[in-house]
Amino acid sequence: MTKQLAEIRHLTAVGVGPGDPELITVKGLKALQAADIVFVPQSRDGNKSLAWRIVADYIDQSRQEVVSLLLPMTRNPRELVPAWEAAVDVIEGKLSAERPLGVYVLLGDPLLYGSFMYIWERLNENGLGPDVQVEIVPGVTSFAATAAATQTVLSMTHERVAILPASYETIANLKQMFETFETVILLKAGTVLPQLLETLEQLDLLDHAVYGERVGMPEEVVVTDVRQLLGQKRPYLSLLIVNKRINEMF
Ligand SMILES: C[S@@+](CC[C@H](N)C(=O)[O-])C[C@H]1O[C@@H](n2cnc3c(N)ncnc32)[C@H](O)[C@@H]1O
Repeated sequence: MTKQLAEIRHLTAVGVGPGDPELITVKGLKALQAADIVFVPQSRDGNKSLAWRIVADYIDQSRQEVVSLLLPMTRNPRELVPAWEAAVDVIEGKLSAERPLGVYVLLGDPLLYGSFMYIWERLNENGLGPDVQVEIVPGVTSFAATAAATQTVLSMTHERVAILPASYETIANLKQMFETFETVILLKAGTVLPQLLETLEQLDLLDHAVYGERVGMPEEVVVTDVRQLLGQKRPYLSLLIVNKRINEMF
């Protein structure tokens, strides 16, 4: 049986950019302001999520419902899978024929290491795909914002760019990536920063790296002389861009 239009519920994943509320796209803002319900993933109870902080001023809480989804920051599937399932149940329970428009906000771009993919997968597994129509609004990524803040060129003409989750990489693999790609972007860098910088030092690449932490947020740290960070572990929301052109051409 064909669903009546009124019965179809919508869930739009909106990438809200890296931190500066002005870096939300016009399309993202429209989706956000049209929503009946704003789903906000957060890693710990009681902690306001960073995505929420970015969008808070754009939401009218007298008209829109804000729903937190607890998604712990862990690699343990025994904690993650039940959390994703619980989040899908909440989304499924909240969206209704009367309040059919939901948005799910997340940092940067939704399809780059975002939590939304797991929710989306489970919506489909639960057979809700046809009932809950999913849309994706792309967002400004953390590395695009860091490149802009440090005036770093990411690539020109033939240059290849690699994006890596640094805390999952081996040093041997990283060394190979630095040889193969003109630009290497290292996300999830904070906890492994000492090892990353040591490797860059060995490869004589320290002068060709820039560092961005909580870029676009009030706590932003941007470092263009990464020697200052040698030996330091830094927060999770941090990244390195390594490009042989840095400090040479521009
Ligand atoms: C789970 S991934 C999310 C990536 C995000 N979807 C994006 O498009 O940038 C988290 C990693 O992104 C990077 N990140 C996200 N926001 C950041 C920010 N404002 N400043 C620096 N790095 C950020 C960090 O490397 C962090 O470890």
